[in-house]
Amino acid sequence: MIDPFNRPISYLRVSVTDRCDLRCVYCMAEDMTFLPKAEVLSLEELDRLCGTFIGLGVEKIRLTGGEPLVRKNVIQLFRSLGARLGEGGLKELTVTTNGSQLTKLADDLRGAGVRRINVSLDTLDPAAFTAITRWGKLDATLDGIFAAKAAGLAVKINAVALKGVNEHEYDRMLAWCGEHGFDLTLIETMPMGDIGGDRTDQYLPLSRVRARLMEHWTLEETDYRTGGPARYFTVRETGRRIGFITPLTHNFCESCNRVRLTCTGTLYMCLGQDDAADLRRPLRDPAIGEEGLRAAILDAITRKPKGHDFVIGRREDGPAVARHMSVTGG
Ligand code: GTP
Ligand code: 5AD
Ligand code: SF4
Repeated sequence: MIDPFNRPISYLRVSVTDRCDLRCVYCMAEDMTFLPKAEVLSLEELDRLCGTFIGLGVEKIRLTGGEPLVRKNVIQLFRSLGARLGEGGLKELTVTTNGSQLTKLADDLRGAGVRRINVSLDTLDPAAFTAITRWGKLDATLDGIFAAKAAGLAVKINAVALKGVNEHEYDRMLAWCGEHGFDLTLIETMPMGDIGGDRTDQYLPLSRVRARLMEHWTLEETDYRTGGPARYFTVRETGRRIGFITPLTHNFCESCNRVRLTCTGTLYMCLGQDDAADLRRPLRDPAIGEEGLRAAILDAITRKPKGHDFVIGRREDGPAVARHMSVTGG
């Protein structure tokens, strides 16, 4: 699959549920209306769609949410996708999670073929953790992270950079990640969906954060890549990596290799744009069949836009994108 800007599409992010057991302030409003279950594709339907994408050249699949691990029986989907690893081109199956279910599920993920996971953790301070997630408990996430490590999964920590909230913690988080053998990725907050407040006050440019970190740490540029948007540096003092995801200060759209499928079968060609294609109808229409489904996907790819519309600062007409981050899981 090659898009109109000559970018090969090899990375599929699949949001298996829009629900989450937390309500991170930058991601969701406190009072969210979730999709009725009847709208949501079954795990078998999601597996079939993923199979079609793999046939079209997808090599990496990341399950996201909401919180993917709160979806009932989601391990069955990991297992069926894991069985596709190696055969026909799928090279990596992975997940982005808030960690709350990992004490239960880490071993099963490893058994299904997952080798590396990303866990959202914005702070190591228990009170700040509860404030950011609105009611989460830091210990539950930390227990999950250590269960993943014990299960043999490589862990990368995702922290959204929030001015005045966690900006004094990056040194400590970098040291903590180094101590436990985790990579760390810092992420600029993106204006998606109404979160019941103004997030421009929380926006922190990572160019500034990196300069500040370099006062205490030796960050060595590396060409290490995961197929995701982060640019990585090796931290000489710890031997681990730090990545920066900078949609606002350093746009990375020109090397975009990904599309996003929601749990209702809607395909978004860009995180920062609203254009989407409905794949549920061709998926469920027996008259259309596998060839028709492939054609619907290829047609959608021809509409992939050049990049996002996020801007730094306030926009009079509200967030750049009306849907919440949790619809596509980032
Ligand atoms: P790796 O495979 O480890 O590189 O993971 P990843 O960065 O692809 O996935 P993850 O789910 O950990 O996402 C981290 C952050 O990157 C989230 O905030 C995502 O919204 C953001 N992100 C991922 N892809 C894109 C993209 O194409 N555009 C933008 N603007 N942000 C993205
Ligand atoms: N901006 C940037 N990252 C976000 N995430 C959730 N909402 C936002 C936002 N508005 C992050 C989560 C998770 C990843 C999938 O996306 O923290 O790590
Ligand atoms: Fe849930 Fe993740 Fe959104 Fe936080 S960022 S509310 S953990 S989906």
